[in-house]
Amino acid sequence: MKGKSKLPPGPKPKISLINLVRFRRNSLGFLKQIYQEYGDIVHFKMGPLRILLLNHPDYIKEVLSTQQSNFVKGRPLEMAKELLGEGLLTSEGEFHKRQSRIIQPAFHRKMMGTYAPAMTEYALRLMNKWEDGMSVDMMQEMIKMSTGIAGKTMFNVDIEEKAPEINQALDAVMGLFDRVSVPFAEYLLKIPLPGTIRFFRAKSKLDHTIYKVIRERREIKLNNGDLLSLLLKEQEEGEMSDRQIRDEALTLFLTGFDTTSLALTWTWYLISQHSQVEAELHEELDRVLQGRLPTLEDYPNLKFTRMVFAESMRLYPPIYIIARQAVEAFTIGEYEVPKKTIVLVSPYLIHHDSRFHSNPEVFNPHNWDDRPGIQHPRYEYFPFSEGPRSCIGQHYAWLEGVMILASIAQFWKVKMVPDHPVEIAQLLNLRPKYGMKMEVYRRQ
Ligand code: HEM
Repeated sequence: MKGKSKLPPGPKPKISLINLVRFRRNSLGFLKQIYQEYGDIVHFKMGPLRILLLNHPDYIKEVLSTQQSNFVKGRPLEMAKELLGEGLLTSEGEFHKRQSRIIQPAFHRKMMGTYAPAMTEYALRLMNKWEDGMSVDMMQEMIKMSTGIAGKTMFNVDIEEKAPEINQALDAVMGLFDRVSVPFAEYLLKIPLPGTIRFFRAKSKLDHTIYKVIRERREIKLNNGDLLSLLLKEQEEGEMSDRQIRDEALTLFLTGFDTTSLALTWTWYLISQHSQVEAELHEELDRVLQGRLPTLEDYPNLKFTRMVFAESMRLYPPIYIIARQAVEAFTIGEYEVPKKTIVLVSPYLIHHDSRFHSNPEVFNPHNWDDRPGIQHPRYEYFPFSEGPRSCIGQHYAWLEGVMILASIAQFWKVKMVPDHPVEIAQLLNLRPKYGMKMEVYRRQ
């Protein structure tokens, strides 16, 4: 047996920055390749950074759950902090726990009853703009719709009508945010490149709008249990600063619409490629809904719709890498790993691993047949991560996924625009590199 002081195997180019270049050029390709070559625990360096890629559910569980107190978001999330401050995604320790307790009620199951109608309302607005045979970029359509839903459900604001400037600012912020991938990204912000200047300008615009939304809500004193009500109530009774409200509000807004719209975009793509799945989906929607928009009460009966969404997030998990940094040295498998090591786990790699999923490259919603409520072996399927830092918005995301698919697929068929290239852009999230050009047709 090997001694515990030995580091795991991995690529060792003469100049370790070559790993960084390969990672930045094609992060998923790079991770896939070293995973195939070196197995379940891979070690490599990128300049001064020591990185571990874990490719087995047992090891992933160690980092996200069993030994989670030894891990922080740390360096990999520096860049996100620049935009989001100390919000739920980026904060650590006791502070994170306290904020999480304050915000949790906005995602309680009982709030879903108020969110579902907002979701279908925005789906309806989108469909009302479509004409038979029209070409749309489904990614942009899903982003627009999901920002609308996030604005309405979290802040009770109609972004389309009252805050179109949010969308403009978001474009510029995400523009830079998207181009940077994990390590060294923070240095980009220290150099006054045109993209950096645009980023800071857009960030200040976004701040201006969010502070305005906060001010207006405070004036009208509306308390409807949504996110902003909870934050303002906490401020009145406790010690939350305006800056903290801004950080939490922006974090939830961005995390809320971005991932969900990507998950939906990939789902439309998959449906367009699998006519049998589409037919089965239509059959369920016609039977359960009979021509009306879905409500929260329909959710349990839209079983196949949920299976389609689950299977789409298996093949295209919007967050394809989850990163942590070790505070102290730790043991994983037969290895003793030094402190400060960055650990990467990839839902994408595990979801495509034939040891845990049969025919992993095939889109087959029936993989979920015997899993009512979409239970799954944890750490073999984890699009929302697992453990104490898993996604706070996952019930919301499931609901939005199912409500939107059910609303739209009931009335519309989607078809890819011929020859539109579909490739994955490995940015912060798993995005279609060239958008998703589709034609929409009314169902007869
Ligand atoms: C399909 C949609 C979604 C996916 C795939 C997704 C996935 C994830 C994943 C993988 C994480 C862990 C990230 C990490 O550890 O670095 C996460 C965290 C988080 N997500 Fe989501 N998410 C989705 C939708 C949402 C929605 C709708 C919201 C809010 C409305 C949300 C809010 C958050 C927040 C605040 C965190 C940080 C939680 C913490 O660290 O305590 N997400 N999400």
